[in-house]
Order: sequence, then C-alpha cells, then structure tokens
Amino acid sequence: MTAAVPSSPPRPATGSDFLAEAATATAALAAAERLGVLDRLDRGPADAAALVTDCGLTCRAAPLLLDVLAAVGAATPVGDGSYRAVRGIRRLGEMLRLTAAGLPDVLRSGVPAVATDTRSGAEQLYPGTIDHLGALMADAAAQAAAHLASAAVPGAVLDVGAGAAPWSLALAHRLPRCRFTALDLPAVLATTRTTVEAAGHATRFTFLAADMFTADLPTAAYDLVIVGNVCHLFDPSANRRLLARLTRTLRPGGTLAILDILPDSRGTDRRWLALYALGLHARTTSGQVHPYAAYQEWLAEAFLVSVRRHDLPTTPPLTLLTAHLPDRAP
Ligand SMILES: C[S@@+](CC[C@H](N)C(=O)[O-])C[C@H]1O[C@@H](n2cnc3c(N)ncnc32)[C@H](O)[C@@H]1O
Repeated sequence: MTAAVPSSPPRPATGSDFLAEAATATAALAAAERLGVLDRLDRGPADAAALVTDCGLTCRAAPLLLDVLAAVGAATPVGDGSYRAVRGIRRLGEMLRLTAAGLPDVLRSGVPAVATDTRSGAEQLYPGTIDHLGALMADAAAQAAAHLASAAVPGAVLDVGAGAAPWSLALAHRLPRCRFTALDLPAVLATTRTTVEAAGHATRFTFLAADMFTADLPTAAYDLVIVGNVCHLFDPSANRRLLARLTRTLRPGGTLAILDILPDSRGTDRRWLALYALGLHARTTSGQVHPYAAYQEWLAEAFLVSVRRHDLPTTPPLTLLTAHLPDRAP
C-alpha cells in the first residue's frame, strides 16, 4: 500500500470550494491526531500498512489518510511509501481539535479554554507548538534579518518571547559576532534552548527564564530588542507597558523591532486575516490584530523615533516595524 504524492501545486480555493477543502483537511488532521496517526508518524516513518497495524485503520483508509496528510503539508514522504510527521504537527493537530471543540463556548462566553496571553496558558500551549511556529517563520525571519543587519550591526540582542527563536537565529546566521539573550517563560525556554542548540548557536545565546512583564531587565544593555509575534497576544494597555519597559533596556541609538500581522498590510487576504483574528479570539483573553496606527502611538509614547514599516512578502504576511531610541534622551 502506498500513498500518492501530489505532483501539481494546490489551486487557490474560494467560496464553498474552499469550505469543503478546509473542513475535510481539518477533520482529517483532527482524526489523525485522535487515532494516534500523528503520534505514530512523529515517532518514526510509517507506511499505510504500519498505520493499519499500529492505529487500527482499515486497509482502504490508511493510504487515503496518508495522502491527505502529505497533501496538506502535515507529513512528508521519506521513500518506500513511508511518511514522517512534520515537526510540531502532532501538537498543532491537538490544538486545532481543542480550538474547534471549544469555539462555541468562546463565542458565547469570551473565555478561551486555554488563554495563551496568561502565563499558565502560554506554558501549556507553547512548549509543543513553538517549533512549528518557528519553522513557519523561517522565510520571514531571513528577510527581517536582511533588513535589520543592513541598518546597523547590533552587538547585543534581546529576543522577547523568543519561542523557537526564529528571528534571532536568522540574525545569528548573518552576524557571527552578535550575541543573543532569548527570554521566554520557564516552561517554554527548554524548547528554545533545544532549538538553538540544534541550529549550532548555543554558545552565542544566553537563556533568560522570565515573564516579560515583570523581568528585571538591565538598563541600556541591548542594541536590538526583538518582539516577534507577541503584541497580538495582548491588548493595547499591556502592549504600551511592554514596549515602554523594553525601551529602557535599549542602548541610546538602539532599535526596537516588532514582527507581527497588521490588518492593513498590503491588502492582506481578507479570508486569512479573518480566520487569524478569530483564532486569536479563541486562544487569548484580549489578543487582537492591532493596526499600524496603534503601534505608532505606543512607540511614540515610549519615546522611540524614526518608525519604519517593512511589509515582508511572505506567507504568513508579516510586517517588520522598527523604531529607534534617540542617541540622547529627550
Ligand atoms: C506566538 S509565540 C512567538 C514565538 C516567537 N517569537 C516567534 O515569532 O515564533 C509567543 C511567545 O511568547 C512567549 N510568552 C508569552 N507570554 C509571555 C510572558 N508573559 N513572558 C515571557 N514570554 C511569554 C510564549 O511562551 C511564546 O514563546
């Protein structure tokens, strides 16, 4: 039994066509997670026959499910009709299943089952998902690193809510003399460390297990502070507080770099943005897609100047915002 590998690129789906595809893909991923198929593929390569034996699938179903998992990018072929799970997909499948099950409640109560803007929620969700998130960011991270490295070469970088550290690692590849501090919650930081070690840059990183809102950060210590995919987790008042306290850790002339999804960036696909915003509602208490004007306001209040916006031509459609601390305090 073998599963066929798709040979043509996926066509863009719209309307009911899209709904049918999305529903089937989500159902397949949820079923694969619930029946232990993602777990089996995560532990090592398996072919359809192995899924029949190990997960109790029928001979008819096993190759069909493998085919779908490969087609939606959840599994990759490794030869001999065997497949391996894409890194982090097992936890993502679990998260999608829980999100789908919890959405009706959230829509009425406004209270997510797991709120990733709380410490306990973040520590529950992120250890298993930041790897996948980091891989998703690879293209954007390479482009952001090119921008950041071309402006001024930083010596010391603080990566706030580092996760799998995609932004720092992309800079580390470009700037061999740069040193990094990766800050994340204690339960998440072990995964950060593993990813950085796997990338071969552990000696250039310091790992800081702390809460970004209360961490005792050194004053005027960093040339560059990165806040990647963090601001959308929090409401405006939390972001104001966060950016103000991070500014104090910048050296005069230093740069604050925010990477996030902006609603008005380059006519971002409406469907993508709507789904993303609903997803944030389902997994945060008050997270949202903030407009550019909000970031401009927070950065100005933190006395940062020369705000620049770079819409990265990537999927997902990320924007890099940079702002500088003046050489002399105002
Ligand atoms: C959406 S992930 C982004 C990870 C990474 N920066 C990226 O772009 O792939 C948010 C990260 O912020 C971390 N985080 C959330 N709340 C935090 C807090 N209060 N203090 C420190 N880290 C936090 C999470 O653990 C997670 O790694």
